Amino acid sequence: MHFLIPAAGSGSRMKAGKNKLLIDLEGESLIYWTLKAVFSASSTSWVGIIGQPKDRELLLNSAKRFAHKVQWIEGGDTRQESVFNGLNALPKDAKKVLIHDGARCLINPELIDQCASQLDINDAVILATKVTDTIKTVDDEGFIEGTPDRNYLWAAQTPQGFLVDRLKKAHRMAIEKNWKVTDDASLFEMLNWKVRIIEGNYSNIKITSPVDLKIAKLFVKDC
Ligand code: CTP
Ligand code: MG
Repeated sequence: MHFLIPAAGSGSRMKAGKNKLLIDLEGESLIYWTLKAVFSASSTSWVGIIGQPKDRELLLNSAKRFAHKVQWIEGGDTRQESVFNGLNALPKDAKKVLIHDGARCLINPELIDQCASQLDINDAVILATKVTDTIKTVDDEGFIEGTPDRNYLWAAQTPQGFLVDRLKKAHRMAIEKNWKVTDDASLFEMLNWKVRIIEGNYSNIKITSPVDLKIAKLFVKDC
């Protein structure tokens, strides 16, 4: 299975003054933990890491053990652009791809393999969890508009897996129609293409704000 790891963000919400994937978690960088999990999955055969040129040395040095096994790909201004660059850098024979955010460093390798095998029978899959909070939609003035039925709400995670040709087509449509999305499954939804949900776990958090690092410290002991 071919793997793309978006790692070209700036980590503005983390307020660390650098790419958050360089932050230390129990003696290793966040990107180290992500790569460790990805390479522990038996389905993994090829890994591309998508980053900003200024972070290249820093990211690869912080995960030296894996540096010689990954392909470097230049990122874009948005996650969407970064993934598009990644898709265009895949080897010609890549039929399927799993995309996994560098910031989800606590992913369980068995769940990666589950996503990979579900791609044998689905064009698109994503890992997600049932929402446990009651979710409100809110207007611009800060007043509640409504409460969607929680039974139909899932929180999207990565990995998200796709047939490469399909996802490339979806990305090209998005450029043409100026669609802006924060994950790749959204493009399939906009095209009315089916995406299969795979139930994941609550420890696969996206490290976004400083509080997430405290939570990750507890979970990383199992990695
Ligand atoms: N990402 C990327 N290219 C971008 C922006 C984000 O590859 N231009 C990646 C990030 O490195 C991260 C993943 O997409 O692994 C999810 O993005 P997010 O959690 O939003 O990370 P950042 O964009 O770095 O953080 P922030 O939004 O707080 O600035
Ligand atoms: Mg971002």
